[in-house]
Amino acid sequence: MGGVGALTLVSWLVFQGFHRSRRVASKILIMVVFAGVSVAMFLSPILIQSPCLMEEKPLPTKPALFGHRGAPMLAPENTLMSFRRSVGCNVTAFETDVQLSKDRVPYLMHDNNNHFLRRTTDVLQKFPGKDFNHSTNLTWEELQELNAGEWFLKTDPFHSVSQLSEQEKKTAGNQSVPSLLQLLDLAKTHNTSVIFDLKNDDNNDTNDTNETVKTILNSGIPHDKILWLPPKHREDVKKVAPGFKHVYSNVADMNRDGADHLNVKYSALSTTEIRELRNRNVSVNLWVVNEPWLFSLLWCSGASSVTTNACSILQDKNQPDWTMGLDTYRCIWITVDLGSLLIMFTLFILQRRKERHRFSALAS
Ligand SMILES: *[C@@H]1O[C@H](CO)[C@@H](O)[C@H](O)[C@H]1NC(C)=O
Ligand SMILES: *[C@@H]1O[C@H](CO)[C@@H](O)[C@H](O)[C@H]1NC(C)=O
Ligand SMILES: *[C@@H]1O[C@H](CO)[C@@H](O)[C@H](O)[C@H]1NC(C)=O
Ligand SMILES: *[C@@H]1O[C@H](CO)[C@@H](O)[C@H](O)[C@H]1NC(C)=O
Repeated sequence: MGGVGALTLVSWLVFQGFHRSRRVASKILIMVVFAGVSVAMFLSPILIQSPCLMEEKPLPTKPALFGHRGAPMLAPENTLMSFRRSVGCNVTAFETDVQLSKDRVPYLMHDNNNHFLRRTTDVLQKFPGKDFNHSTNLTWEELQELNAGEWFLKTDPFHSVSQLSEQEKKTAGNQSVPSLLQLLDLAKTHNTSVIFDLKNDDNNDTNDTNETVKTILNSGIPHDKILWLPPKHREDVKKVAPGFKHVYSNVADMNRDGADHLNVKYSALSTTEIRELRNRNVSVNLWVVNEPWLFSLLWCSGASSVTTNACSILQDKNQPDWTMGLDTYRCIWITVDLGSLLIMFTLFILQRRKERHRFSALAS
């Protein structure tokens, strides 16, 4: 609309140039160029596509929310406080990261290798002079000595700490590194699913999958609440725990195994691809989606769920930012185009008159 408006204004000058030029060739050139630009501008809405421009079919159900490391804007990531706060946003799954301690206890920690423990705990104060870079450097007992929340208050990674109450800040500053079992208990209590990356699964010396699956089976959580993502030992997992839901990080592997759960980055699929997968009844989860406009587009496309840092913001959305029927959309742009054409025609006539007066004044 802005483009058409600007074009309409500019046409005043173009027509002036047209009427003033004395050579037929320049007149033709001006008109051909201007007509070309106008046609492109008038028809450009045909090229605009959005999943939120829809026929009068019903809007897909709102995507479910998976809490990315809990609710990392409301509490330090991957702590029990973070997951409890995500329960407050009605997330249907906790998303997390699992590593194993020296004594083979699965615990929750995202960073590994060079950043391991340093970003989200006070490991440098608690174990000065030790350069830990691997999950198995510490026993579970040692890990529990670490504070996993003060960093959040200090660095305020989402500029959200000021919105926390004094009590919440106190709780945040007192978080420790949770075990996977603690998270599974919380999930069991709240009927929440769990999806996680197994951080050191590609290490051939250890098989972290074994202990992780054992912990899950011992926790008593219903098996269909586990969205199993780690690919390395998937076939073994299927044998010992056939009730887990298997989630894939690409369509090819999913199709090969005849599965129907997908978990990919939001930019990995076009809105059309999402819609086609959903028509095949594939569950499509997209990570990491924080912006309401992006959430809206994925909602219109029919995404099943999104992994988000901003569960409290997305929870409050009752509808996409906007949707519009295709007919309404066509009606609007055709009306705008016709209005613009009418105005241009009037301007053309006005310019011609003006030019004639000027010319006869000059001549006399
Ligand atoms: C941590 O574990 C890695 C891998 O086993 C080892 O190379 C490194 O020396 C350990 N670091 C410390 C401080 O124990
Ligand atoms: C949390 O507070 C309790 C009681 O003050 C304290 O014993 C514990 O060490 C604190 N935990 C962390 C991780 O700060
Ligand atoms: C648990 O969640 C599932 C959907 O994930 C739902 O069908 C079921 O009714 C819930 N159970 C309880 C006890 O709320
Ligand atoms: C998808 O599920 C719906 C409802 O459960 C069913 O009617 C439809 O046939 C399924 N579509 C495919 C392609 O399996």
